[in-house]
Amino acid sequence: MVELLPSILSADFAHLAEQVQAAERGGGTVIHVDVMDGHFVPNITLGPPVVKSLRKATALPLDCHLMIENVDQFIPDFAEAGANWVSVHYEACRHLHRSLQLIAHHGMKPGVVLNPATRVDLLIDILPMVHHVLVMSVNPGFGGQQFIEFSLDKIRRLAQLRQELGLAFRIEVDGGVAHDTVARIVQAGADLLVAGNAVFGAGRPEQDARALLAAARQAAVEREAAIHRDE
Ligand code: DX5
Ligand code: ZN
Repeated sequence: MVELLPSILSADFAHLAEQVQAAERGGGTVIHVDVMDGHFVPNITLGPPVVKSLRKATALPLDCHLMIENVDQFIPDFAEAGANWVSVHYEACRHLHRSLQLIAHHGMKPGVVLNPATRVDLLIDILPMVHHVLVMSVNPGFGGQQFIEFSLDKIRRLAQLRQELGLAFRIEVDGGVAHDTVARIVQAGADLLVAGNAVFGAGRPEQDARALLAAARQAAVEREAAIHRDE
């Protein structure tokens, strides 16, 4: 099942509740929240207090993508604030296994994120622990960047590993998801589509979410049909 995760990074922060609710009316089913610390990535965004406010504005799951150092120190705060899914970067965690355990221990769904330069196969040992794997299809830090094409190979490799290992983790893609890329991303095997600029950039989150989701669903139907043809 393909889902759209509006990323609030490109929203109007002065009207965050309305923007999130509009994206939800357009078909968004999980809200993607980018947390940046100015150390791991060259930008600063928000932290647990904003998550706590968002928690009151929507009943949808909040997917917190932590682009920060010292993740273990902040995981309890995100749980307390009402986060549902928390993903941490392979590149930012000295003890990734421990951080994933800590997220699950706090009752949240653990995810792992890969930068464009990090190989999928490095994750094999921890895949059974994760609810989702997030493939960064741009370098993290900013919205509105161009999709990196070889991310499609990483999505395909993850889908193959999921099948070979008999696992059920979900494959999330973040960065440059837009009208001109979404079909290829879905066809490669992604099922969670993060979109910031394509949803909020033009100031019409409801309409633009709806149109992007429709294109994604169409590609998913074609993907399923191709799988059945091959069987
Ligand atoms: C970038 C963030 C993304 C960002 C994607 O570091 O992780 O979630 O919002 O932005 P778009 O969809 O504009 O490429
Ligand atoms: Zn993100």
